[in-house]
Amino acid sequence: MTKRISRRNLLMGGAAVFGAGMLQGIPGAPAIRWMNSAMADLATPDYLIRASSNENPYGPSRVALQAIAEALRDANKYTGITNELISVLAQIEQVPEESIAVGSGSGEILKVGGLMASLEPGSVVCPDPTFAGLIRYADNMGTELIRVPVNDALETDLDAMYRAIRPDTNMVYLCNPNNPIPNLIEKNALRDFVLEVSRDRLVFIDEAYHEFVDDPAYDSMMDLIRDGHRNIIISRTASKIHGIAALRVGFAYAHPDHIEDINNKMTGQLNIVGMKAAYASYQDAEFQRYSLQQNRKSLDIMEAMCDEIGARYVKSHANFMFIETGREVAEVSAAMRGANVLIGRPFPPFNDWARISMAKPEEMQYVAEVYKRLFA
Ligand SMILES: Cc1ncc(COP(=O)(O)O)c(C=O)c1O
Repeated sequence: MTKRISRRNLLMGGAAVFGAGMLQGIPGAPAIRWMNSAMADLATPDYLIRASSNENPYGPSRVALQAIAEALRDANKYTGITNELISVLAQIEQVPEESIAVGSGSGEILKVGGLMASLEPGSVVCPDPTFAGLIRYADNMGTELIRVPVNDALETDLDAMYRAIRPDTNMVYLCNPNNPIPNLIEKNALRDFVLEVSRDRLVFIDEAYHEFVDDPAYDSMMDLIRDGHRNIIISRTASKIHGIAALRVGFAYAHPDHIEDINNKMTGQLNIVGMKAAYASYQDAEFQRYSLQQNRKSLDIMEAMCDEIGARYVKSHANFMFIETGREVAEVSAAMRGANVLIGRPFPPFNDWARISMAKPEEMQYVAEVYKRLFA
């Protein structure tokens, strides 16, 4: 008989996950016969665990939910509190309000970055692999991408990126922490690089996972915006630690001249529900602390599992891990999906590495157990 564990039971304690029963895959998932024997005494949750998209499994916070409920009553209005939101962010980051633009997710800011890099014929230098939002847009606009592979330690290779810059390079894109490899760029090397490169061209730094980092080797480049430097754009998002990905709220921080340019180029629309949710959430430090603490627990569970089975992984400074699987990630994905776990898409050429996002710790206990049984 199949035993299914409901979300409620799963929440009530990790032990419930490991009751007696047979694994049963979701309809349409490939039949993986060998899995059934490996998983015979492990019960499957009756919903898909989303370890795929680097979301916050707890979000939106209670405070944000309250704001969302109230804002729904304002849904007749186009928008209204963007300026108040900008004011809160200006205080948090200690930058002038004129140095902030709000977009429809940081995805829109990234696309505008890709557009800015493509107005003159030329190239964009970026690490490889990295997040696709900006570079895919620039590529679609006909701009040449100069992809600089990460080094042997899988770190963004600033020296190689510097050497890759050509006279026609309009922009250098960096993602810190990177995605899908959740590692950092050392702060002093990064600052020197940004100051040097931004003398002649735009440097775009995607800090979507900034709030997750707790490492003295890291620093946001926000102080350069604070000090009025030009040619530097930083993006941040309300989709990750604030858990409102569906409401599409993201930000650009830059010199006021660039912000004006970005505002002129954006084509998305802001909505009052997202604005009010973000306005509440950015003032809810307790939820951010809680999310961080739970994320750390989930990372500990997955790291312990990897250590136990000897799987190589990159120490994570974000809400996801990058794990060497030793087999095609498509195969890993299909098998995990059979156990109701969604993991990240393949990131070629890292075809035997899996990006696994952190769900709640009790869910990650299950994910770790499944991974171990299937692939150890
Ligand atoms: C590095 C990075 N930047 C930006 C984004 C886009 O986030 P959003 O458009 O929801 O702000 C993501 C989403 O996964 C990301 O990983």
